[in-house]
Amino acid sequence: MPPDLQSIVDEIVAAMATEEARGKVATYIPGLATVSPAHFGMAVVSADGSVALGGDAELPFSTQSVSKVFALTMALGKVGDQLWARVGREPSGNAFNSIVQLEAEQGIPRNPFINAGAIVVADVNLAGHQPREAIGELLRFIRFLADDEDIHVDEVIARSETETGFRNIALANYMRAFGNIHHPVERVTGVYFHQCAIAMSCLQLARAGRYLMLDGLLPDAGRVISARRARRINALMLTCGHYDASGDFAFRIGMPGKSGVGGGILAVVPGKASIAVWSPGLNASGNSQLGTKALEHFARLTGWSVF
Ligand code: DON
Repeated sequence: MPPDLQSIVDEIVAAMATEEARGKVATYIPGLATVSPAHFGMAVVSADGSVALGGDAELPFSTQSVSKVFALTMALGKVGDQLWARVGREPSGNAFNSIVQLEAEQGIPRNPFINAGAIVVADVNLAGHQPREAIGELLRFIRFLADDEDIHVDEVIARSETETGFRNIALANYMRAFGNIHHPVERVTGVYFHQCAIAMSCLQLARAGRYLMLDGLLPDAGRVISARRARRINALMLTCGHYDASGDFAFRIGMPGKSGVGGGILAVVPGKASIAVWSPGLNASGNSQLGTKALEHFARLTGWSVF
């Protein structure tokens, strides 16, 4: 008997509503600081196309680092495995915005999901484009994946990041000094900040993640990427998707997942489900406190895991 996903989502939403420890909303990006920690949403899209929704599943939030998954997929489509000459594939064991490894490692970021790695990915996606076109291309790709045209950049958040993103600007300049950023820094960070400011609901995010549960295929639109590439992106999500807490996420949840400081997490059970959760309060590692907890419940109630 397949699990009854709607009852499971209902049970999780009810459990999360009574949680008092909801974490702390990110404040280093001023535009995120005003979001209420009371929100919780969850969406599960199964391999057969059925959908289970709960709580604030249809309310858009700032996807932040979750968007790095889609930007990586697009960059791999452009340059293929050449990307790996400029970005590593190892967990960093450091905070998402850390600069420390770049000096000893010649400006090559550990993986595409830490900020430095995503900035290199933005540089790849910028090639041959104006920043506006590069963002437009990414938005079109995400809308196609989600089969939903109503996905946009939150300009207030994008401006907020541009005005306060000193660390990201420093990372980009530092990597440019090593020759690993090819375009002017303000153009690259412009793409990166707008990418982080893409707003989506849990439903849109879970739909956009379907290609990762279906070995690179989209039910109605055909192949997005090869099965091998989809598996590799899932592997990177599992090992690097939660920064310094990636090991703990794999231990507790056992699924590839990518978090963002807006409080969203996209998780994938290959062959079974694409899941998005959102709750803005973060734990000490910068990942959604209730989102992580909800996925832990989900893994236990369904028995699903990649292990
Ligand atoms: O660049 C930043 O710091 C943010 N725009 C994104 C960071 C993020 O989401 C890290 N995720 N947990």
